[in-house]
Amino acid sequence: MTLRPVALAAALIAASIPLAAPALAQDAIDRKVDALLKQMTLQEKVGQLHQLSGAEATGPEAAKRASQNTEIRAGNVGSMLNIKGAKDTREAQALALQSRLKIPLLFGLDVIHGYKTVFPVPIGEAASWDLEAIEQSAQVAAREAAAAGIHWTFAPMVDIGRDPRWGRVMEGAGEDTYLGSKIAAARVRGFQGPKLGATDRVMATAKHFAAYGAAVAGRDYNAVDMSLQQLYEVYLPPFKASVDAGVATFMNSFNTLNGVPATGSAFLQRDILKGAWKYKGFVVSDWASVKEMVLHGYAKDLPDAAVKAINAGSDMDMEGEAYIAHLAQAVKDGRVAQKHVDDAVRRILRKKFEMGLFDDPYRFSDAQREQAVLADPRHRAIARDVARKSLVLLKNDKLNGNAILPLAKNAKSIAVIGPLADSRRDLEGGWVVSDVRGEVVSILDGIRNHAQGAQISHAAACAPGCATAEGFDAAVAAAGKADVIVLAVGETWDMSGEAKSRTDIGLPGQQTELFRRLKATGKPVVAVLFAGRPMIFNEIADNADAILYAWFPGSEGGNAVADVLFGDYNPSAKLPATFPRNLGQIPISYAQYNTGRPVTSEKDIVYRSAYIDSPNTPRYAFGHGKSYTEFGYSGVQLDRTILRPGQTATLSFELQNKGKVAGTEIAQLYIRDTVASVVRPVKELKGFTKVHLQPGERRRVTFTIDRDTLSFFNGDLKWGAEPGEFKLMVGSASDDIRLETTLHLQ
Ligand code: NOJ
Repeated sequence: MTLRPVALAAALIAASIPLAAPALAQDAIDRKVDALLKQMTLQEKVGQLHQLSGAEATGPEAAKRASQNTEIRAGNVGSMLNIKGAKDTREAQALALQSRLKIPLLFGLDVIHGYKTVFPVPIGEAASWDLEAIEQSAQVAAREAAAAGIHWTFAPMVDIGRDPRWGRVMEGAGEDTYLGSKIAAARVRGFQGPKLGATDRVMATAKHFAAYGAAVAGRDYNAVDMSLQQLYEVYLPPFKASVDAGVATFMNSFNTLNGVPATGSAFLQRDILKGAWKYKGFVVSDWASVKEMVLHGYAKDLPDAAVKAINAGSDMDMEGEAYIAHLAQAVKDGRVAQKHVDDAVRRILRKKFEMGLFDDPYRFSDAQREQAVLADPRHRAIARDVARKSLVLLKNDKLNGNAILPLAKNAKSIAVIGPLADSRRDLEGGWVVSDVRGEVVSILDGIRNHAQGAQISHAAACAPGCATAEGFDAAVAAAGKADVIVLAVGETWDMSGEAKSRTDIGLPGQQTELFRRLKATGKPVVAVLFAGRPMIFNEIADNADAILYAWFPGSEGGNAVADVLFGDYNPSAKLPATFPRNLGQIPISYAQYNTGRPVTSEKDIVYRSAYIDSPNTPRYAFGHGKSYTEFGYSGVQLDRTILRPGQTATLSFELQNKGKVAGTEIAQLYIRDTVASVVRPVKELKGFTKVHLQPGERRRVTFTIDRDTLSFFNGDLKWGAEPGEFKLMVGSASDDIRLETTLHLQ
């Protein structure tokens, strides 16, 4: 099947003719904001800083809903989350328009990997290293959500994650700050478009500010303790990239950072974000994170928490009980300066103007548009394209001289086995928020769609989670009759994401035993693994004949997986995170330090920085991912060996498709600063490029290196490059460097 997603996306934009917000210059908006602010009472100002989670109008929440409605009419609510659909948002907006100043509400929602059309989970999309595809995915999600009355998504999550025990690695772009920064910007562009206010885009949120991904022991919400150098160098850049891409809002985070809750951190929010970075958007707290400062032991009670959060620069209180109840009094008592409240309100009102809500508060809540957009079949094609680009081929052994994958379309018989083989909900992954979701194509459906002549048998063997082995005998019997076994195993959708930290990141339940039994049939086993995180699956890694890591691939997951299994799409994805061999290696990243006692060979580990019971190397390295073809790297050239101030250097090399099928390689550039005032990682990703080549085709590929490429935060947290020698490495993965050269910075 031929998909032209770029053309599709272009058509989609042209066809939708989004309504742009009437263009108002920034200073005209500022004047309107100031004029409105002058009319507002202190209570109305505090109301703008209050965000509520919508309650159901009927059933057990009816009373809560009624009281929310009263608050909205009274002008005590600035924004709502978890309310969606043109009808419901319109109704809520109508209440806000009954308030004295008729200030419209902002509707926010966690549109993380799609609204109606579900895309691969973010870590899966990150594996595509395809900024265009990632931007398109966010664009479609925005288009659908915006048609359902949503103004604002709480995405992208740009937290770096180097600990796969932490369930929220699913929502990010992996372990690397360079790749993470590029993806952060692409997602912001996709959600927001070139300018806020179009009715087919939404405001984005860079979250969670900051360092949430470094929770001690990978336990969600846990404390974070890290050097400022590490913070500046690894954890902050994706946030800065989001600011540079124009992200409308920030969300702070649940964790403490070096002893101070992020929500109460003036260092993060005032000094860095609104100070050094001159950020003009607003900061929303995470869910009740203002209130949680009491439990952290940082605020003595709720009023104290409100004071500390607003003074630190936290503008909006999500599902907050703190600001609305205590802020006005705190201003009267002089514990909070009026200017802090005014600044927060200004930032929020500015976004409401930029979104065009003062001109037409209902512009996003249009039931007819909602129906048309949510029925648009082109979204599925884009979802399938992104999904297949996210599937990582980890292993593909040969049998009688032939690679196991791709499978022949005229294969006689295929057994599709495993608890996730015909599961639909699991393929969608964690963050699905719309109840009008489209159908999900299971792996079994996808295989049936592709291999129509084959005899396809199916057995789940066990339910998702695979607690018992009761169905194994029947599954093994069915598998024994087939030519090849496709085994679909992994986490269920609810095993990664928020509050889903695991101390065992192996295959849940008895799935490894199922694999063992199937392998014993002597038939080749192709393992398709699903998860929202890197898992540990050594037995499968050692003994499966082929392995495809599918993450949670979304609505079109089954078709995308089958596209790869049958060779309609040659896999191109690369791991955005290191896959450890064992839990003891965590946290783990390719960008490690050399130490004074590096391991130079697996045999020489005594008094080295090593383990006595495991190699240091991961199971699969960052950047790893196979293709159905082979790529050759040769002829590295550097146009200058000395880089002087103001100059750039161009590194080039020849990439060749040495195989028999067309394929796409993601070539990666790493550097190492060999001597510096603070030690530098042995490898740092500084560039990548996706190149599609026909069989036999060669192309010269270039990377540009400037002073910025070689810069880092020194011991005084100053960004800059230090003269000296830099190793430049080009390769197919962080552990598969093919070419090296040296550059000297003067
Ligand atoms: C808590 C999560 O940490 C955050 O990412 C999310 O946006 C909010 N809840 C709202 O649902």
